[in-house]
Amino acid sequence: MTRPRVRTAVLISGRGSNLKSLIEASASPDFPAEIVLVISNVESAGGLAFAREAGIATRVIPHKPFPSREAFDAEIDAALRAADVALICEAGFMRIHSAWFVKRWENRILNIHPSLLPLFKGTKVHEQVLAAGAKESGATVHFLVPELDSGPIVVQARVPVLDGDTVETLSARVLETEHTLYPEALRMVAQTLAKRSAGA
Ligand code: GRF
Repeated sequence: MTRPRVRTAVLISGRGSNLKSLIEASASPDFPAEIVLVISNVESAGGLAFAREAGIATRVIPHKPFPSREAFDAEIDAALRAADVALICEAGFMRIHSAWFVKRWENRILNIHPSLLPLFKGTKVHEQVLAAGAKESGATVHFLVPELDSGPIVVQARVPVLDGDTVETLSARVLETEHTLYPEALRMVAQTLAKRSAGA
């Protein structure tokens, strides 16, 4: 018996290379998640093209016209519900959600962060790693909670920091790892959700 695939949305703000890796992984019919919607808050986000090429529905919802985080999140929430989404992957989505949204989608939002959390939270992550003289970095996929970059970890992968690394060389090495890590995490979480909803 084939289980129904978990209807998944990806939220982006830019390049979308992680989105691309998720689209590629989910192109296989036995992958437990199906990407049904891509939402960007930035109209010019390069990643939208990957979704369009794959025939995935896209929505552009710029955050600026909304008077509050809650109002913006309410619009995102409505789009997700209209598409009957069960799981969200944030992939370079550069907005912090309201507590209301995070609670509403509790245990249903994944995020990828380019460090070995709990180390090096926030922005300019590779700068932070290099400035600290760390010998190792990596990537983390975790569930979203209201505290930034702090939710339960699903998977992590280590990446060496090499002598002479720059932000560019380190971020490229970490990104390559992200592209296998995120599909792996989505597979694990979607498998669990699919089993749960099938009552298995
Ligand atoms: C990635 O490094 C991800 O870890 C971080 O933002 C970047 C997004 O890159 N959250 P892309 O848009 O997926 O190429």
